[in-house]
Amino acid sequence: MAKIGTNLTRFILEEERKYPNATGSLSLALNTIASACKVIASHVRMAGLVDILGKAGKTNIQGEEVQKLDELSNEILIEYLSDCGEFYALASEELDEPIFPENGKNGKYIISFDPLDGSSNIDVNVSIGTIFSIHKKLEGNINDFLQEGYKQVAAGYVIYGSSTMLVYSTGNGVNGFTLDPSVGMFLLSHPNIKIPEKGKIYSINEANAKKWDKEGLKDFVENLKEEGYTSRYIGSMVADVHRTLIKGGIFAYPSDKKNKNGKLRLLYEASPMAFLIEQAGGKTTTGEENILKVKPSNIHQRVPVFLGSKKEVNQLLEFLNG
Ligand code: AHG
Ligand code: MN
Ligand code: MN
Repeated sequence: MAKIGTNLTRFILEEERKYPNATGSLSLALNTIASACKVIASHVRMAGLVDILGKAGKTNIQGEEVQKLDELSNEILIEYLSDCGEFYALASEELDEPIFPENGKNGKYIISFDPLDGSSNIDVNVSIGTIFSIHKKLEGNINDFLQEGYKQVAAGYVIYGSSTMLVYSTGNGVNGFTLDPSVGMFLLSHPNIKIPEKGKIYSINEANAKKWDKEGLKDFVENLKEEGYTSRYIGSMVADVHRTLIKGGIFAYPSDKKNKNGKLRLLYEASPMAFLIEQAGGKTTTGEENILKVKPSNIHQRVPVFLGSKKEVNQLLEFLNG
């Protein structure tokens, strides 16, 4: 197993060496994501200073227009991922249609991403993140994005929290890296993450309870309370899932009477997070089927999400299915 403190670039190369036929494409793709997210992290750290450095007239001290952080993150990722040449196509939560970059004509992969997740938390200095999901390029058109989650080649997120962390999987377990800001390197801090079999926390926006469309869900949550669980809900999926991955328990964004498919997007949020949770030994479901088995019907599709420790997700399914 790699040593704590190994830097991400080296870790990725060592993983690649395990596959004699690897061409280095995925390694470059992953390193490019890490680089883009370091740039986003530096902007996130400056977010509060934007006002001081000149939001008036919407230009900053260099005379550049001050952008909203989610738009800026989207542009940074598009620029890095388009330039790197490994991606045939890019789909972003912030774009109506995918992009087919000029430089990616020989790219073997396609990528879906949520450039800044939890954007309502930016102004209040609460953790936010970037989520990504990589599949193989197939036919070279939009249908390539409609592959099931279990076909992901890699998935991960970067959390801009009290420290910046990158957590990812290529299907061989999950590893977490913490950004050392003094040298600008991601260092292995959480090798081979395993989600606890059972936790003590549930994470759901309970203000919506009256709107939930499944009676079993209310009973499940009441039962968790009786069993002594506590509740944590940040409202940034990256942060709520990160905690669930480390501490166990369950995270949910269910369907309700108004939103029959819930709120979270399959491609950019549910599917990559489900890949990580399952790679860490947890379980995921829409309430009806494993999230990774859902065949997307369009790129911006939403899906109900339940994920976490096996114990809680199994218990939820018992409550839902009566
Ligand atoms: P985004 O900021 O990318 O639009 O995503 C926000 C999502 C997700 O991060 C979080 O789990 C959920 O919205 C919170 O929604 P509620 O405020 O409805 O609970
Ligand atoms: Mn999001
Ligand atoms: Mn977003």
